[in-house]
Amino acid sequence: MKILITGRIPESVLADLKSEHEVETNPYDRPMARADLLAAVKDKDGLLAMVTDRIDRELLDRGPKLRMIANCAVGYDNIDLAEATARKIPVSNTPGVLTDATADLTFGLILAVARRILQGDKRVRAGEFRHWAPLLFLGTEVHGKTLGIVGLGKIGQAVAKRARGFSMRVLYHNRRRREQSTEMDLGVDYRDLPTLLGESDFVSLHVPLSAETRHLIAAEELGLMKRSALLFNVSRGPVVDEKALVEALRSRTIAGAGLDVYEHEPALTPGLTDLDNVVLLPHVGSATIETRTAMARLAAENLLAGLKGEVPPNCLNCRELGRDRR
Ligand code: GLV
Repeated sequence: MKILITGRIPESVLADLKSEHEVETNPYDRPMARADLLAAVKDKDGLLAMVTDRIDRELLDRGPKLRMIANCAVGYDNIDLAEATARKIPVSNTPGVLTDATADLTFGLILAVARRILQGDKRVRAGEFRHWAPLLFLGTEVHGKTLGIVGLGKIGQAVAKRARGFSMRVLYHNRRRREQSTEMDLGVDYRDLPTLLGESDFVSLHVPLSAETRHLIAAEELGLMKRSALLFNVSRGPVVDEKALVEALRSRTIAGAGLDVYEHEPALTPGLTDLDNVVLLPHVGSATIETRTAMARLAAENLLAGLKGEVPPNCLNCRELGRDRR
């Protein structure tokens, strides 16, 4: 069968796919142009997609032979799942394998903003480290602070585990409150969102993007946070109203932010890069050699299973398609 892989993946995974199917790849370290993507799906049976590909009605119309779509990401807001389901195409994602890498990066951002790590690096490189002084480059403590986790799924839980190592008090908000045993194991306390925002020193977002979570954090929510608080987003950009965030950072409604994702990615809201109280990363939550290899491998496994007519291990819509084993 014919497969399209829209981004570069490790050679070993590519070789496995090539041993079973005819493979077309995007050899560049950038997303495929929309027109190229639409042209390339024309004769394909399987698609191994990246988070930057918009898999919508138009694309599905152009790929009438598609019988399996494997997203190389845990989030799948880039895919119109209802449209794929209507066309009886199984869709999969890559949960689990990127949980720890993303939680690690969350703590990287927390430390970077709280301890002004990037500002310090910039100062040293500029040749401006002339002396040590007791009140220079003061940040804020991380250990012992209150962390508010919004979205206590796999990644949110992994962040909570790390927070224990920093002796933090951890609050969480989730659409459905977790079992008491989970709360006890993780040492986390449930709060409604406004209360969590008001009590936390650091707020970290770990929800999937949906109609419900779009602009979950906007001007009103930012206004509920402490003036000393820091906001972190390693989920999806549109969860935060970025214009409202720029304004809140500018006016010091909150003290700082760390972002790995953007509302109009890769475009940035004007004013964001002028601020010195924000650390900006290029969507690298899962970007380690180990994790990106595991994600590609899992996406490939799902793709191969789907093309064989089996139930892919991480199928998102197989129940709706009546193809679930459970
Ligand atoms: C990356 O953003 C992912 O959803 O895996």
